[in-house]
Amino acid sequence: MNEPLIPLPRERASREPGLFERMGGRPVVERIVREFYDRVEADEELRRLFPEEMTAGREKQALFLEQWLGGEPRYSEQYGHPRLRARHFPFVIDERAAGLWLRHMGEAFRAAGVPEREMQEVFAGLGPLAKHMVNASEDVPREPLKETFLR
Ligand code: HEM
Repeated sequence: MNEPLIPLPRERASREPGLFERMGGRPVVERIVREFYDRVEADEELRRLFPEEMTAGREKQALFLEQWLGGEPRYSEQYGHPRLRARHFPFVIDERAAGLWLRHMGEAFRAAGVPEREMQEVFAGLGPLAKHMVNASEDVPREPLKETFLR
């Protein structure tokens, strides 16, 4: 009798917030990127792989992470498809560098206060992604990709 004519949007009402929101959104991602780059700066071995000037890289990393975690796709709006593996070809990345990258990123997420459950979700994806970036023993073109701006 009291059944509503229009069914309640149950999926919407009970929808869990996405990973990006649960982690605290943009301010937390920005904090993670600051923490990550502080650690890269302090790591002689990894720092050698990065360009001297890292301002643009920081900005791109923040845009990309937000998009990858389910926030707004601002990275792709500005730079097109991430093509992450190809974009990393100019940097000779071995297993050890991938391990250091992951360790610093893990510490950066912790320092930014990301809870354990969300950490596990994130690193289940970032672990394999970092391994996928390893290219040291491959014959890949080492010259930087031309930027592909969409607008
Ligand atoms: C495995 C070890 C990795 C190393 C050593 C590494 C190193 C680098 C370096 C040197 C740059 C250039 C920074 C700049 O131009 O200032 C870069 C860019 C970038 N990296 Fe990585 N990276 C690694 C893994 C990853 C992973 C797993 C991701 C994905 C989460 C990632 C995402 C990015 C992004 C989005 C950029 C900016 C790309 C662009 O638009 O130019 N990297 N990385």
